[in-house]
Amino acid sequence: MRVAVITLSDSGYAGKRADLSGPAIQEMVEERGWTVVQTTLLPDGREMLERELRRLCDGGLADLILTTGGTGFSPTDVTPEATMAVVERPTPGIPEAMRYYSLQITPRAMLSRAAAGIRGRTLIVNLPGSPKAVRECLQAILPALDHGLEILK
Ligand code: MTE
Repeated sequence: MRVAVITLSDSGYAGKRADLSGPAIQEMVEERGWTVVQTTLLPDGREMLERELRRLCDGGLADLILTTGGTGFSPTDVTPEATMAVVERPTPGIPEAMRYYSLQITPRAMLSRAAAGIRGRTLIVNLPGSPKAVRECLQAILPALDHGLEILK
């Protein structure tokens, strides 16, 4: 399974803060034996993210794209909008599962607007921004993604 990781963070992109969430995703994905083909750091905002999602999906460059960050309520949090703009078939069960699992840990889980869906043969899943949230959300969804991604191929 080829996985692309995209971190959305203005401060990370400006070099003001280290990206800890991208590496946390990479670690968990590699523990499953999957391959991280690319890690990318982008500023918050729709345009660059939409372009990168289209490039990866339409070029057949990744089976799974995991984004982190930009799912909250700040005016600059537009990752779900960029994702849904490129998605052809939404997969609402995935963010439902993340929030269901995460709400048992923190009521703030309801503040993530994370979305997910399929474009071509690639599944795109938004994760929240913190390394803690990333780990918790991946724990919730990774066991079922094996099966979904096999069917998508
Ligand atoms: N989900 C889990 N599992 N654990 C968390 O700590 N934090 C929440 C939520 N989802 C959290 C979580 C918080 S505090 C916010 S504001 C939203 O994710 C959005 O995060 P983002 O803006 O960094 O994407």
